[in-house]
Amino acid sequence: MAQRSSYKPRIKRKAAASVRTLISRAQIQRRIAELAQEIRRDFPGEPLHLVGVLKGSVFFLTDLARQISGEISIDFIAVSSYGGGTHSSGEVKLTRDLDSSIEGKTVIVVEDILDTGMTLQYLLRVFEQRKPRRLRVAVLLDKPERRVAKVRADYVGFTIPNEFVVGYGLDYAERYRNRADVGVLTLGTQEKKTV
Ligand code: IMP
Ligand code: MG
Repeated sequence: MAQRSSYKPRIKRKAAASVRTLISRAQIQRRIAELAQEIRRDFPGEPLHLVGVLKGSVFFLTDLARQISGEISIDFIAVSSYGGGTHSSGEVKLTRDLDSSIEGKTVIVVEDILDTGMTLQYLLRVFEQRKPRRLRVAVLLDKPERRVAKVRADYVGFTIPNEFVVGYGLDYAERYRNRADVGVLTLGTQEKKTV
């Protein structure tokens, strides 16, 4: 009689990366509605020019823009900080400029997260030279523990602890941006944190 083989190759299981929700979709949406009201209260009746920093801010910007009443225009800028992964290296480079001039406009820079502050410090320098009427900053998340540059945001969605987060625009190696919530990423054993 042929022996039935019960042999199964022993494959070492890779511990998968996991994401633990930190801020739920509902919390994000509620907070954005509050921020939108706050911003409009600060600039009643004024056209506002939202400048999103690609790509992380896209989801935040589009939700925020739809919650602010009155006249809004939008534009995007892209920067890259050298290095990727879970730590920013500090050096910032402009990789895509705005389509239109910001001179004389009330500009709100929209960022996903304020971490070391190097990106924002660089952007504010660039924008200030272009003579906007006013320049304000809105960030969905603020990680104050990691701050290096002396910058602050005028509008902050949530202050969070020093953890690497993904979702709602924030990525790890381009993944997880499409999550509707923000969660803390724990990498699996096979994935390496690149710096
Ligand atoms: P900063 O220049 O250190 O303030 O970093 C800003 C940029 O680093 C953000 O716009 C994000 O793209 C990225 N970043 C910082 N912290 C995180 C995080 O926890 N998750 C995902 N991206 C992050
Ligand atoms: Mg970003």
